[in-house]
Amino acid sequence: MYRIKIIGAGSIGNHLANAARSHDWQVTLTDIDPAALDRARQSIYPGRYGKWDEAIALKLSGDAMSDPADVVFIGTPPDSHIKIANAVLDASRPRALIIEKPLCGPDLAGCATLWDRVKKDGLFAGVGYNHTLGRNTVLAEELLRSGLTGPVSTISARTREHWGGIFKAHPWLSGPSDSYLGFWKRGGGAAGEHSHAINIWQHFAHVLGAGKVAEVSATMDIVKDTGTEYDRLCFITLKSEGGLIGDVIQDVVTQPTEKSCRIQGRDGYVDWRVNHRPGHDAVLSGKGDAVEEQAIAKTRADDFKAEIAHLEAVLGGSAESSPISLERGLDTMMVIAAAFKSNELGRRVSIDWKAGYRPEALR
Ligand SMILES: NC(=O)c1ccc[n+]([C@@H]2O[C@H](COP(=O)([O-])OP(=O)(O)OC[C@H]3O[C@@H](n4cnc5c(N)ncnc54)[C@H](O)[C@@H]3O)[C@@H](O)[C@H]2O)c1
Repeated sequence: MYRIKIIGAGSIGNHLANAARSHDWQVTLTDIDPAALDRARQSIYPGRYGKWDEAIALKLSGDAMSDPADVVFIGTPPDSHIKIANAVLDASRPRALIIEKPLCGPDLAGCATLWDRVKKDGLFAGVGYNHTLGRNTVLAEELLRSGLTGPVSTISARTREHWGGIFKAHPWLSGPSDSYLGFWKRGGGAAGEHSHAINIWQHFAHVLGAGKVAEVSATMDIVKDTGTEYDRLCFITLKSEGGLIGDVIQDVVTQPTEKSCRIQGRDGYVDWRVNHRPGHDAVLSGKGDAVEEQAIAKTRADDFKAEIAHLEAVLGGSAESSPISLERGLDTMMVIAAAFKSNELGRRVSIDWKAGYRPEALR
């Protein structure tokens, strides 16, 4: 039985606690705020999963910092992630450290140092871009490998979701100004919060052997409203080292939600969908105008169960490589940072990967 210590007992912390319990893991759920621990026990967990699970230990994060665990999971706001990650590594020696997305704010502060530290310490570190672990992703990968598409012409990814949905899952927040969500510099706004689209674009580019993202061009709509400052629209075009060109759109205004990634080839296409129909992800594919739809029944809780199952494979040594590795999360962070720089400068920004995970790599 693996032991997981979760830092942050908010929305994501409860999802992970439930997923880990469903795999019979020993769970300690922690938070800096006693009111958050109370809310997890009285309202979030029973509201989502029927009743509180007495096997989950609740603790203040500071009191639990040096408690041993196989996996430490950081589910706090993005601008706290790297500081907490370093504190975890100072206080304990977990076998795996998973940090929620986005890894940090677009200033990339602490990224290069954390990367060096994790490599030196030899633990598995990851970032929670868990869509890459879904059955729709695995199926899309199989279709791409089958040769259905022929040579790929472009990839187009979308996470367009009005953030009313996020606030529905956080009834204790009054709105964007009440959390990091309303502040792009803290990792909120469309580019950071909805960065699953950038990440899945990179994931499929990786599967296709198209290389890392080499050039980024972005146009954003940054709003300043009642103390907040965030991008509500983020339109990005990307070019990979291998010459693959495509686009990503992330926004916090679109309703109903669109979460998709279309890989268009010379002969056919694969179209990856999240929540394509109620309770179902899907993969659409075909040649020419043909559309074959494969629906995959899924609940929200399943997203996190897949993440726990993947961690079991990582800890058990049976995962060949991990699409949620820290390297992949850092790759996405570089594109987020490049997008803000491109929007600010009004020109294309290139990423020099040899310069490491630092702002100087963005030219
Ligand atoms: N992968 C996904 O699908 C997914 C889904 C939801 C959220 N997230 C990510 O998870 C992270 C948290 O989001 P959330 O919606 O759970 O936020 P939340 O506001 O619901 O919860 C965050 C919790 O962290 C606690 N916290 C803050 N600073 C802390 C510290 N220093 N030590 C301990 N606890 C601290 C807060 O008190 C709060 O309870 C964000 O990065 C978000 O983008 C990912």
